Amino acid sequence: MPISEKIKEYAERIENAFERYVPAATVRPALLHRAMSYSLRAGGKRIRPVLLLAAFEIAPSENDPLPAAVAVECLHTYSLIHDDLPCMDNSDLRRGKPTCHKVFDEAVALLAGDALLTHALTLPAIAYADKPELAARLVRVLGTAAGSEHLIGGQVEDMLGEQGEASAERLDFIHANKTAALITAAVEMGFILGNAGPEAQKIAREIGHDIGIAFQIIDDILDETSDAETMGKPVHADLENRKLTYPRFHGMQQSRERANALSERAVEACKKIGGNTDFLVALIRQMQERIS
Ligand code: IPE
Ligand code: IPE
Ligand code: MG
Ligand code: MG
Ligand code: MG
Repeated sequence: MPISEKIKEYAERIENAFERYVPAATVRPALLHRAMSYSLRAGGKRIRPVLLLAAFEIAPSENDPLPAAVAVECLHTYSLIHDDLPCMDNSDLRRGKPTCHKVFDEAVALLAGDALLTHALTLPAIAYADKPELAARLVRVLGTAAGSEHLIGGQVEDMLGEQGEASAERLDFIHANKTAALITAAVEMGFILGNAGPEAQKIAREIGHDIGIAFQIIDDILDETSDAETMGKPVHADLENRKLTYPRFHGMQQSRERANALSERAVEACKKIGGNTDFLVALIRQMQERIS
């Protein structure tokens, strides 16, 4: 099966699992659940949950990885809803549709984000309750990646970077935390759910870090070189918001080279894992070549 078909099939599996693991839009208060469902089902590449499933399949176990995959996508979607708010990046378009606060309002968007974040952390605790150690590890990995020293910390330094405090060190901190931390958690959670040993989990973190940084460098590049229709979100937004981005700090060519080098290193690391890593490697290549 061609890789794009396989990614599509996996993304559909995740979207179908929303029915089961996320409250329906009709649940009271319907306004809140409609807003959550609107952003979650708006589309999106589903790269993080697909990575989780790809990592799981390298050393699969009897565990069902789908609740964890849904949790990661809920957490990611919350981060996008809040990232788009007027007090943050102030964006009107996401996943090819008006942003949550445009369709609902700012208060509802804020609360829909809060609810998706909370749901992301309770879902694994409930879904894997019969294996408390597994549940605790998953919640710990996901919660740590989302917390003040990682995703939120990265968002805060991203904001400080807008205010002119630019350095290569800050840029690396932003990319490692606002983006790579959750991508790393997705890969690691796939391995935790499967039968991978501690050595493979360490390699998973290295891979996640490298592809996560590359992912954000490419996001920065595409903000300068792509168009809103392809991206499903506004372009040139980083320049308008005076963001500290990779191309702004290091130039376009060096940015592309860095993204390629990180992707290569991640592919090399896959060879150290053992098991069939073909799908994970193909995903890394797809992420490297992506145009949206
Ligand atoms: C956007 O993530 C935010 C970044 C970390 C760059 P994605 O590019 O994965 O967005 P969706 O999920 O496909 O909409
Ligand atoms: C978003 O980074 C990172 C998080 C949401 C945590 P960006 O602000 O670059 O993402 P886009 O470009 O709006 O998707
Ligand atoms: Mg942002
Ligand atoms: Mg943004
Ligand atoms: Mg961006």
